[in-house]
Amino acid sequence: MSKRQDPPVRPADDGGGRRARTVSRLWSRALATAAGTFVFGCLYFFVRQSVKEGVWYFDLTLVNKALGTTSLVMIALSMALTGIAFFAGRGSRLLTFRRHHGLVGFWIGLAHGAVNHLVLPATGLRPEEKAETLPADATGLAALVIFGFLAIISLAEVKGFIGGQAWRRILRYGGYAGLVLATAHAALLKWGSWENFVRTFDPAMPSLSLPAALIAAAAVLLRLAMALAMRRRARG
Ligand code: HEM
Repeated sequence: MSKRQDPPVRPADDGGGRRARTVSRLWSRALATAAGTFVFGCLYFFVRQSVKEGVWYFDLTLVNKALGTTSLVMIALSMALTGIAFFAGRGSRLLTFRRHHGLVGFWIGLAHGAVNHLVLPATGLRPEEKAETLPADATGLAALVIFGFLAIISLAEVKGFIGGQAWRRILRYGGYAGLVLATAHAALLKWGSWENFVRTFDPAMPSLSLPAALIAAAAVLLRLAMALAMRRRARG
């Protein structure tokens, strides 16, 4: 008669290990999205340069444009996920991606600001559009300061300190204020280029900041539509 054997005992998977794996998956998704957007941005600006000016060259000014655009797209995606989750009815899973997309967008925005102010002047290059007017400079810097503040606030320890409802409200309103400022910064610098594209379609490729700004505008509109839908639901 064969003896029944107990199944092999697997080491218990503690909650900490599972949580660490989830967090690292969230980081890798956000970093992969940013890396994909950045590489696409570099290639796009490289080809656009040739379409626009008939020369093929790649330097840090194009990297800087791709950094600014990637930052705006990541932050806009982070904010848009709330509305997408609400209307698609796919609650908590999509919502978990928001923090990591926003943080990666902030770090890339910081890199973009540093390249503008420190790296380009040190290498003797200058951006195509100089943010030397006060509104363009101030809106970019104000957006960075807000996102830096939100990055600190987003820590779990701070959530416990402030209290859940106030914490969520600060992140929500701060996030949309930062997104509007970042979009205004891009618009102040690139409005002429966007307007020229819409009027003449010349050059055939618009600045990548145009679709990035449209994604940011869509994120804000989605949130407004969500607020309206929630109010209507509450009224019954
Ligand atoms: C989160 C913060 C920021 C975001 C999301 C952001 C985003 C952008 C975007 C989308 C563009 C347009 C890229 C293009 O199509 O050419 C841009 C351009 C630019 N930004 Fe920012 N920016 C931020 C912060 C800053 C800061 C702090 C500065 C420095 C004061 C700055 C200076 C510039 C300059 C000079 C350009 C023109 C680059 C060029 O045309 O070559 N930005 N930014």
